[in-house]
Amino acid sequence: MEIKVVSGDITQQQVGAIIVNLFQGVTSPGGATGAVDKALDGAISKLIEDGEIKGKKGEITLIHTLGKMTPTRVVVAGLGKPEAFTLGGVSDVAAQCARRLRSIGVSSAATIAHGAGIGGLDAGGCAQAIAEGTIMGLYRFDKYKSTDPETNRFDQLTVVESDKSKVGELEHGLARGVSIAEAVNLCRDMGNEPANVMTPSEMAERALSVANDVGLSLKVLEKPQMAELGMGALLGVAQGSEEPPKFIILNYQGDPDNPSNNIGLVGKGITFDSGGLDIKSAAGMLTMKSDMSGGAAVIAAMRAIGALKPKVNVTAIVPATENMPSGTAQRPGDVVRAMNGKTIEIDNTDAEGRLVLADAVAYACSIGLGRIVDVATLTGAISIALGNKCMGAFGNDQAFTDLVMAAGNGVGERVWQLPTWDEYKEQYKSDIADMRNTGGRGAGSITGAMIIGEFNDGASWVHLDIAAMARSATTQGSTLKGATGVPVRTLVNLVMGL
Ligand code: BES
Ligand code: MN
Ligand code: ZN
Repeated sequence: MEIKVVSGDITQQQVGAIIVNLFQGVTSPGGATGAVDKALDGAISKLIEDGEIKGKKGEITLIHTLGKMTPTRVVVAGLGKPEAFTLGGVSDVAAQCARRLRSIGVSSAATIAHGAGIGGLDAGGCAQAIAEGTIMGLYRFDKYKSTDPETNRFDQLTVVESDKSKVGELEHGLARGVSIAEAVNLCRDMGNEPANVMTPSEMAERALSVANDVGLSLKVLEKPQMAELGMGALLGVAQGSEEPPKFIILNYQGDPDNPSNNIGLVGKGITFDSGGLDIKSAAGMLTMKSDMSGGAAVIAAMRAIGALKPKVNVTAIVPATENMPSGTAQRPGDVVRAMNGKTIEIDNTDAEGRLVLADAVAYACSIGLGRIVDVATLTGAISIALGNKCMGAFGNDQAFTDLVMAAGNGVGERVWQLPTWDEYKEQYKSDIADMRNTGGRGAGSITGAMIIGEFNDGASWVHLDIAAMARSATTQGSTLKGATGVPVRTLVNLVMGL
């Protein structure tokens, strides 16, 4: 995919199609849309007058130019109401246009920067969102299809800007968007792989290629080292599986002179969650290859971070293992001891995410990370509480929690906070250990989060529950059916803003 900026006249580009837009309620198009309308002898205004183009969000109209200009087609993309238009909307429009053009065999297009004109959004941000939407929207996971159903390619996009002074800002935005979207697609690739391929060892391999691509250091702890460090909670989950667990640590040094200017990104890496002896139902198990999505997101985010080079030190940590039932599996009622010495009674072997994260968060603290964001497909309960429109956030430091939420909400990955009041602690008390690994029926996402928080030692900590967001059942805008790549954009935006 080639994406570039030129300053000039959009009607004069040597491309297969040109993309212009219309806000809802506009009756006589201005700017580039107006210029294209003129070149087409008023075809766009006529379609508006006839009520065929309304400018509604998601509306795509294709017009043949019949020799009136160089490109053979014009796409008019509806943007919806100007007051409701956001950068997320820019990405969605770009994704829809690219997919539509690909489906009809058009491989190149010139586009205006949606939102940068009367939309009032900043030009660099719009360019970034266009790159993100285009690359995310065209994503396909078809490596296992022997006969490819769609061989068309859309591989060239030119953003046309009439104001020459904005070109630099647009170029910068595009480059950033490309890095971020590639990271999102990398995360999707990992989440879409079946669990017989995306094993803990394979996750470590993917982390290695990220490290090689952008120059990060990688350390992978094996079982004996985990045992030496006292990671009994992680090892308890891993003991039922034939696949060796891997504890993956990727490091980026963006501010080597200030080691305390750091952040840890911790991701749940359960490559298959059968539930263990507390086995899941067939329906509940079906999508559990995606239970490593948090781990995939932090590994993928490191790729964009390594490419964009912010002035902060970032460590990604992924405790990767399967959760399987077997003769060696951990039993309900077992007691395990985590790295920080705290003991946990296993109330339910299917509450394994908090167990592997207990050791990962304790490890993050032990190496001096002062800010930690953990990302996990932790609870089914989060989709009962919030549905699939946002992630759940939990934290121990409101300023840092606000920062993480703003990072997500700013890139169209919505985040909503739930409380972590001390009163919930009694729900996960154990008779014989420091705690149990579940807190009963009520507030399941909150107690899950708080159990992870028990293993934090002094860091500003935020937990993101992405169980309802890691996969999508449908394609919509830049979100595709299957693994979504949430919250890669949130994490990169957060780190870039530190
Ligand atoms: N991986 C699941 C959570 C999940 C459910 C993710 C649905 C994506 C979609 C997690 O390990 C789990 O099984 N959680 C249990 C916790 C319970 C036993 C306290 C759950 O949500 O039922
Ligand atoms: Mn589980
Ligand atoms: Zn799980």
